[in-house]
Amino acid sequence: MKRILVIAGTRPEAIKLAPVVHELRRRELCRVILCATAQHRQMLDQVLEIFELKPDMDLDLMTPGQSLSDLTARLFEKLPAAIRQARADCVVVQGDTTTAFASAVSAFYERVPVAHVEAGLRTRDIYAPFPEEVNRRLVAQVARWHFAPTERARQNLLREGIAARNIYVTGNTVVDALLAVVPTVHGLPDHLQPPPGSRLVLVTGHRRESFGAGMRQICEALAEIAAIHPDAYLVYPVHPNPNVLEPVNELLGNIPNIRLVEPVDYPTFIALMMEAHFIISDSGGVQEEAPALGKPVLVTREMTERPEAVEAGCARLVGPDKEAIVRAARELFDNPQVYARMAQAKNPFGDGHAAEQIASVLEHDLLMEG
Ligand code: UD1
Ligand code: UDP
Repeated sequence: MKRILVIAGTRPEAIKLAPVVHELRRRELCRVILCATAQHRQMLDQVLEIFELKPDMDLDLMTPGQSLSDLTARLFEKLPAAIRQARADCVVVQGDTTTAFASAVSAFYERVPVAHVEAGLRTRDIYAPFPEEVNRRLVAQVARWHFAPTERARQNLLREGIAARNIYVTGNTVVDALLAVVPTVHGLPDHLQPPPGSRLVLVTGHRRESFGAGMRQICEALAEIAAIHPDAYLVYPVHPNPNVLEPVNELLGNIPNIRLVEPVDYPTFIALMMEAHFIISDSGGVQEEAPALGKPVLVTREMTERPEAVEAGCARLVGPDKEAIVRAARELFDNPQVYARMAQAKNPFGDGHAAEQIASVLEHDLLMEG
């Protein structure tokens, strides 16, 4: 049997690769080996548990406050042996994390072909998002299969000289994951219920390029929104990166209508998105999920590699800019027309069958090789 090594390190990689692992295992044509680098520890385990996945290999690499270089060095130290031990015929990576980049390059060094899930996202600015824009470009250089979520992503790859025959437009596997989990969601747990008469605003934030001044502006904007809209109830599952946790606790820790909580599991996060009046976030995954759920999302970034969400009308770029965030939030609270225009359920990122298409292509090509 051909052996497919799937490598995941962080929360979003696990969410977006879970449908691929399950689909490949359901078909039983190839052997799937799941390797957790554990670039994230708690947040990765939270996802693996929800999707009932147990890693076959766990490199357990996370250290608190890890630097990009240290993490990368540890990955390059451990990954080649893992790839050899798995006797992989193919390595599957997802997105643009340090795990994805180091896994793709390690597989290349081992001369094992690479499949890239969520290929072709670009802002064309190497510092936004940092370092992800460069990570995903590097993965594209070594990948044999490019699974692009949208036609636009395919065009980005063609423009960079990737051969058309190696690009497959599949939709984003996050839609597969979302659709699988939504039926298990039955409202918010009691401890996250907003007080009667208030409107829930869901917040997340963790981008490196916003650390420092940007993060402070975002926090100041949230504090101001809470002050001028007393009926707003902001729920913020705070990313455990110390560069996020520290300013958030310092600037938002004592505001009655801001609820800071630890990262919540995926079904609870979906319940929060469904209950939210709107969302304020810099997350990639949330920009894909919000349109599917018909929730307006204010994106606290200067640019996005997911312009499809902006074009669908659901997402609006407000930057890590205090005034712009407060103004856009005010419009969503006070202007029903603006709200209605944004709160439309559309699904520019696929129909929930991405994993099936990815599995079919990989199986076909690996089995044809004999
Ligand atoms: C990483 C990815 C980013 C992705 C994000 C998803 C890179 C360069 N960045 O950023 O693309 O959007 O994950 O969340 O790959 N920590 C914990 N527990 C956890 C997870 C993180 O304590 O479960 C803390 C640790 O102190 C860790 C730090 O967060 O050192 C940073 O983690 P890291 O993976 O390096 O960066 P992220 O900012 O999470
Ligand atoms: N998410 C979650 N719990 C949380 C916050 C987010 O399950 O407390 C999910 C969210 O639904 C999305 C993914 O995590 O699918 C996004 O992860 P993150 O924002 O960390 O990374 P990005 O998508 O920006 O790379």
